[in-house]
Amino acid sequence: MADRRKMTIPDLYTMRAKGEKISWLTAYDFPSAQLMEGAGIEMILVGDSAAMTMHGHPDTMPITMDEMVSHARAVSRGAPNVFLIGDMPFMSYHKSPEDAVGNAGRFMKECRMDAIKLEGGVRIAPTVRAIVNAGIPVMGHIGLTPQSSAMLGGYKVQGKDVESAKAMIEDARALEEAGAFGILLECVPTAVSKHIRESVDVLVFSIGAGPVCDGQLLIMHDVVGLFQAFQPKFCKQYCNLVEIMGTAFAEYRKDVKDGTFPAKENEFTIKKSELAKLEEGLAELK
Ligand code: KIV
Repeated sequence: MADRRKMTIPDLYTMRAKGEKISWLTAYDFPSAQLMEGAGIEMILVGDSAAMTMHGHPDTMPITMDEMVSHARAVSRGAPNVFLIGDMPFMSYHKSPEDAVGNAGRFMKECRMDAIKLEGGVRIAPTVRAIVNAGIPVMGHIGLTPQSSAMLGGYKVQGKDVESAKAMIEDARALEEAGAFGILLECVPTAVSKHIRESVDVLVFSIGAGPVCDGQLLIMHDVVGLFQAFQPKFCKQYCNLVEIMGTAFAEYRKDVKDGTFPAKENEFTIKKSELAKLEEGLAELK
């Protein structure tokens, strides 16, 4: 990565114009964000998936705005040049546009995020408009929207019939009209993603929505093999940290038990002359 200046929205549009695909990952902590910046990843989402990957909840619903702020602050310290997006957690933008603007503002002011993401299309467009009017860039998220998975009947591929595909195109247009700079499609057939991309001018991203999109998002824990609950079809695992870390923890335990750790090189020692003085001084305490 030669170019280390801060990635911006115009940079992302320039990449699309040049036909260069955009790489995007989730991150929730400082060291992962630092490694992503080092690898040249263009965008990071501080996703509410942290509820599952970092906090062990069965879904994304319980994570709070305060918890998201804590993750986002760590990520922005690790990856200051990556384009950073804070994910609005459940009920942080549903009560009123004013409440949504306040919470979106926290991501910008307290966490140095560059944009926020929220789930929904037509129904959330007035909120998107209010946040954009406050000067905060917004990424829309449609298709499978995990925060409303109960209404969608579970975690299913979306837009498989004409009616739902048309509704998704309307959602994308509403987000664009409301001022969103980009739209994330989750679990959408490639044929439908293609129609959506042709229906709007804004950037269109994919997580399980096919190669026709301008960029690809994956969840970090799926990429490095650190999430054990399930593996969605659209993921690609590049290494197996469960295996690597599990082996390290087991070997450490064994070393502690058999006295192999700590070794000589892990100990702090005192010079012979000083040791004698120390022993003498401490002997007085006995
Ligand atoms: O929180 C997250 O990681 C997300 C992705 C699943 C799109 O919103």
